[in-house]
Amino acid sequence: MEATVIGVVGAGQMGSGIAQVCAQHDYRVLLYDISEAAIQRGLSAISASLERLIKKGALTQQQKDTTLARITPIRELEALRAASVVIEAATEREQLKFELFERLDRLCPPETLLASNTSSISITAIAARTRRPEQVIGMHFFNPVPIMNLVEIVRGLRTSDATCATIDTLARRLGKTPVTVNDYPGFVSNRILMPMINEAIYALYEGVASAEAIDTVMKLGMNHPMGPLQLADFIGLDTCLAILEVLYAGLGDPKYRPCPLLRKMVAAGWFGRKTGRGFYEYS
Ligand code: 3HC
Repeated sequence: MEATVIGVVGAGQMGSGIAQVCAQHDYRVLLYDISEAAIQRGLSAISASLERLIKKGALTQQQKDTTLARITPIRELEALRAASVVIEAATEREQLKFELFERLDRLCPPETLLASNTSSISITAIAARTRRPEQVIGMHFFNPVPIMNLVEIVRGLRTSDATCATIDTLARRLGKTPVTVNDYPGFVSNRILMPMINEAIYALYEGVASAEAIDTVMKLGMNHPMGPLQLADFIGLDTCLAILEVLYAGLGDPKYRPCPLLRKMVAAGWFGRKTGRGFYEYS
């Protein structure tokens, strides 16, 4: 099956990046969000990201206009009936995703593939909420989506070979490198990344060093483009906590317990870059 129209659910950081990349690679995109303001923020982010590419000489104004014209904002989930693949990139909450997939399953034609950009929630459990578990799959993009090469393809227990093959092809057509993994908490990416971030937060919490010192050690000593605390701010501390909770509950090992400092910062509403304050302050 050829995916010509792609539906994207959620116009936040990840959803807008996914919509942008699809549109840049000639797909028509239906971009859904529940709120008009979220859609407008998503479209502005896409426009700003394309503008960066123009400044670098990697894109012309004409190509930017064509890319934007391929994205149709929608406020009714029902409009996603026209898509052959729907990629869900809503907030990282299990119940929300279960309900969305139940609705998508009811309204989309039987051949439509339903993908989730979840960072850690079980694809097998999401798929079980639908009547098409063979056609449900994880398509995990990385932030910033337009420049990160990886798509982690997550195979649920009942995902079919045909679905894996179509999504692998789609990821390649989007200029990404797909890597297929099995469905266990945090998959591969966040099972390895989040304990590192959590350990960096513990190091700060226990007074081993300042945030700047911890990040500098990892940047200069390990050649990471961002230190773990800076990266946590970039991903969103609320998202990091949600992923750690899934790892902790799903694997049952105390090594995944979220640091109390992370819990406290999320409780305070310090989510990182998106709220202007996390381990660092952002203007
Ligand atoms: N759109 C288009 N281009 C962008 C962009 C965007 N949103 N953001 C950055 N870029 C481009 C810049 O234009 C620049 O291009 P150039 O090198 O050709 O001039 C390049 O990316 C580098 O950007 P900057 O010079 O502004 O800044 P940095 O050199 O500091 O790089 C970064 C920024 C690419 C974000 C780099 O710091 C990085 O790779 N950080 C780590 C990101 C990471 O680990 N992401 C994964 C997070 S985990 C995740 O998403 C999964 C989830 O489940 C948690």
